[in-house]
Amino acid sequence: MLKKLLAILMAAAMLTLGPGCTANSPASAGQGGGSQAAAGGKIGVSMPTQSLQRWNQDGSNMKAQLEAAGYTVDLQYAGDNDIPTQVSQIENMISGGCSVLVIAAINGSSLTEVLKTAKDKSIPVIAYDRLILNSDAVTYYATFDNYKVGTIQGEFIRDRLNLENAPGPFNIELFTGSPDDNNVNFFFGGAMSVLQPYIDSGKLVVLSGQTTLAQCATQNWSTEESQKRMENLIAANNYGPSNVKLDAVLSSNDSVANGITNALLGAGFSKDNFPLLTGQDCDKPSVKNMLAGVQSMSIFKDTRTLASKVVEMVNAIMRGDPVSVNDTETYDNGTGVIPSFLCDPVFATVENYKELLIDSGYYTEADLS
Ligand code: BGC
Repeated sequence: MLKKLLAILMAAAMLTLGPGCTANSPASAGQGGGSQAAAGGKIGVSMPTQSLQRWNQDGSNMKAQLEAAGYTVDLQYAGDNDIPTQVSQIENMISGGCSVLVIAAINGSSLTEVLKTAKDKSIPVIAYDRLILNSDAVTYYATFDNYKVGTIQGEFIRDRLNLENAPGPFNIELFTGSPDDNNVNFFFGGAMSVLQPYIDSGKLVVLSGQTTLAQCATQNWSTEESQKRMENLIAANNYGPSNVKLDAVLSSNDSVANGITNALLGAGFSKDNFPLLTGQDCDKPSVKNMLAGVQSMSIFKDTRTLASKVVEMVNAIMRGDPVSVNDTETYDNGTGVIPSFLCDPVFATVENYKELLIDSGYYTEADLS
């Protein structure tokens, strides 16, 4: 155990600064030693839901890569974002002898109690993709650069509408995700850092007046909820292909974008007059929508890369080696800053999807037809 504690302390001291988490990232090379044989042991992997494609991929990538590294894996999905289920699954992982826990939390603040037990038993906890708040049991955080996700989405809208030069004004509506997911602060904050100046100057107009995170949130990232809200916005502001022009809709991810798309199609919009619409995850329905001309972009977060980063972290922890991180400033979970590794997100459109998604083996053409 002393070895593990030392590893944790050394990680803070031996911070490895590096570029994004790409497959060949020098930041990761040789640090956790993903390729060397691991010591073995049981690793608990707790995922929030099976109803979104991305978490199924995260779960199966983690399981496959951990098993290939020689571990036994206890992989659990918490029903469909059911917090008590996630808590009891983590309790079972702790009592079942897991040596490390990897957790993508449903609600960033709901694991404080159960993780006290992990800390009592000196079980390291890696927060996966979403930061776990208010728990000093969290040892590391591995995610994509969430603020960058938001700025890429904001910049996409800025550039496609040519906000710097075009006279405008342009109409936009804003959507983000679940307010209990800490990532939302970064996604929405990053996008608004780009868009807010244009809203302030009047170049972008939000006719609904709904611009705060609370007003734009979508509980549980639900497609049904975002569809309802978009339908209401269409009705209240008279948006339509032959009514008030809607130029852009900011959406923090694909499940929310899909609801927006449904509402817009229902109101008679088509690929010929569809507003710009952002997304995140490159989920299959959204990539298909991009190919059909009814979603403009998505953010590609290669879940294989995040999984391999986490496996490296697990290997380093289990061996008592230094753990490679590239951010020790951004993610304070209420008990202090959690040493983090941020992978690089990239944006996907119809122009580059082949190279990003097909050539990399993430999807086959058949997946998208
Ligand atoms: C993840 C996104 C995902 C969303 C909904 C966020 O925490 O970072 O990739 O789309 O949750 O599951």
